[in-house]
Amino acid sequence: MLLLAGLVAPARAAATAAPTHRFEIGSDDFLLDGEPFEIRCGEVHAPRVPREYWRHRLQLVKAMGLNTVCAYLFWNLHEPRPGEFNWSGQADAAEFCRIAQEEGLWVILRPGPYACAEWEMGGLPWWLLKHDDIALRSRDPRFIAAARDYLQEVGRVLGPLQVTQGGPILMVQVENEYGFYGRDPAYMGELRQALLDAGFDVPLFACNPKEHLKDGYRADLFPVVNFGTDPNGGFKALREILPRGPLMCGEFYPGWFDTWGAPHHTGDTTRYLKDLDTMLDLGASFSIYMVHGGTTFGFWTGADRPFKPDTSSYDYDAPISEAGWVTPKFDQTRTLISAYLAPGEKLPAPPPRNPVMTIAPQRATQVAALFANLPEPVRDDRPRTMELYDQAGGCILYRTQLPAGPAATLRAKAINDVGQVFINGERIGFTDRRSRNYRVELPARTTPVTLDILVEAMGRVNFGVEVHDRKGIHGPVTLTADAERATPVELRSWEIFRLPFDASMLGALKFQPAAATTPAKAQGPAMWSATVKLEQAADCFLDVRPWGKGMVWVNGHNLGRYWNIGPQQTMYVPGPWLKQGDNEILILDLLGPENPVVAALDQPILDELRPTLDFARGRRREVKLRSDFGSPAVTGGFAPGSDLQEVRFAAAASGRFFCLEALDAQDGKPFAAVAELALLDASGRPLGLEGCTIAYVDSEERERMDGTAENAIDGQSANLWHTEWGAAQPGYPHRLILDFGQVRTISGFRYTPRQGAADVTGRIKNYRVYVADDLVRE
Ligand code: GLA
Repeated sequence: MLLLAGLVAPARAAATAAPTHRFEIGSDDFLLDGEPFEIRCGEVHAPRVPREYWRHRLQLVKAMGLNTVCAYLFWNLHEPRPGEFNWSGQADAAEFCRIAQEEGLWVILRPGPYACAEWEMGGLPWWLLKHDDIALRSRDPRFIAAARDYLQEVGRVLGPLQVTQGGPILMVQVENEYGFYGRDPAYMGELRQALLDAGFDVPLFACNPKEHLKDGYRADLFPVVNFGTDPNGGFKALREILPRGPLMCGEFYPGWFDTWGAPHHTGDTTRYLKDLDTMLDLGASFSIYMVHGGTTFGFWTGADRPFKPDTSSYDYDAPISEAGWVTPKFDQTRTLISAYLAPGEKLPAPPPRNPVMTIAPQRATQVAALFANLPEPVRDDRPRTMELYDQAGGCILYRTQLPAGPAATLRAKAINDVGQVFINGERIGFTDRRSRNYRVELPARTTPVTLDILVEAMGRVNFGVEVHDRKGIHGPVTLTADAERATPVELRSWEIFRLPFDASMLGALKFQPAAATTPAKAQGPAMWSATVKLEQAADCFLDVRPWGKGMVWVNGHNLGRYWNIGPQQTMYVPGPWLKQGDNEILILDLLGPENPVVAALDQPILDELRPTLDFARGRRREVKLRSDFGSPAVTGGFAPGSDLQEVRFAAAASGRFFCLEALDAQDGKPFAAVAELALLDASGRPLGLEGCTIAYVDSEERERMDGTAENAIDGQSANLWHTEWGAAQPGYPHRLILDFGQVRTISGFRYTPRQGAADVTGRIKNYRVYVADDLVRE
């Protein structure tokens, strides 16, 4: 259905005031200056694209056939400290919008206050966590007050760029997928009012996945639905709350994001193109999330719940690759959209690819050992989390003295996120939040020693209640001698060293020539420095395979995190951040490199897992299962197909553990899978899964796909738990056991089967469910 979609592009900002426009929600269509308008949109995050390339990427978006770009604002980037606002450099959102307008694109703005987006804490500022009982994303007055101040500032900076004032901004989103998190329409009302008070007079809207469209719904916020596939199903659900009006998909996923240690995600292009064609044919509006993912530079990566840290590459298998390259998916999308252009509407040619280069291997010769570069400590009787020492991110070192004594187990309530334990500077062991392993065995000590716990924060969880993600040590820290009936002794009087790796800390590091004799790995946690002389400056991909785990700075630009377990093994280096002549490359390696060599490739490596290098070998904690699980809370059979299914128990059951025991599959094959599992509380309402983790799973495919069990409880049905099918194919029964961490009363559950075509493997047929206190023992 051809409409005036593309013909009306925002007037390029001329010297004279650009014309203003009216954008409205019509009874059937979006209306631009009264004319039906179809939004063909793609998501791009300005902070994830080198500022020097914003225009290049936006020209690609236009050339692919889109007429609008959608952009989040990340509160924590724009207000790094209360009342301190940042709208410069990568944070210059107004300039990004102006360039979009100049390139003939309208803008949809998503200012938050919460965004998600695999971004640190979902965009929320860490300093809110200084209130130890704050309830984020709620009408907690402290949250609302801070959010109102921020949105007021957003209005000051971006309000003038609304179409009503000659800019490109068509409409503004309130919050983000709030229905996944809460059901309080008044909370959404507070934010809506804050945006109105901040001067936004274009339409305000809210997005949600189809399962949560009604949660927190308000009639005065235009609803859009997010989905990765099945547009008809998504729009059918939308029509339940929006009987008339334009249909819009607020997030349509061509790929997905990656997390460290799990296989690289690529989207199903055939399905993507078919669904896009369906939406174009329907005359529906859509936004491709992400059309260009880019890179999560600096400390800004988030983590999926319960704790799956995101990679710094945010390539997302998007039509426009991380480095701004046109992909086959781009060409196919351009061709598809070309069939739906309005008469006379033409697509510009895509701009050429930016030059790429390689950098020959060169040894880093200077090193600054972390323990030799510690700042003044703060002293504290008990260790507390980073935020309470006024620290945003990076690392933090906790030090105390231990008397001589027998072998013992060191424990903490939690250590977020990766802990390294040292005795007199010698690394003894690791703690690992991914598997909730917060204990290390200490050897016997014949003399008093110095105990160090170096904790690295890997980005705050960006989804679910886990966004209340305080980093560092959650005490008490205890030592329990390995003797029978030994009682834990709490360790007190600590020195705390804050290691934020900000510009002033980097500037203070004292480098030494790296002794050729000392194996690099033996240097322990250290910053390495190399000066690389370049003939030319062009895009390239730093090869971090010889390195362990840490971060990289190029000429002062923080490229983000790397980790040798993959799947990402290179880091995108934008050409404009390099220069002819000497370039300073700093590499923080918290594990120690195999070989401190700096080199760059002219191609990215985003799909190379190296599980054997994982200090925790990615293994789950060993647990023992109760020999007999007793009588099940329910036994039954699921219906075939991909629809969500709700199962109610005859009588509610209480316990700390919930076990889904799958007995066979719809297709008779040995595989089991779950896209999403939600539990129902005693009154049949969805139970928040805060603090809920995987206690046990008999099998999960972690090599050939990201089939980790956490995918079943991360709130996203676009990923899934899937039993092994690569190296092994263990058969039924399959068990997935959740640990609530406390006793909960359950009256039923909702099972979302694996999504996608009819022939996908893993859809469960018969099952038994157990709820009890002691299904699992350590
Ligand atoms: C959700 C969020 C987005 C992003 C995607 C996954 O739908 O709204 O911000 O996190 O999931 O990439």
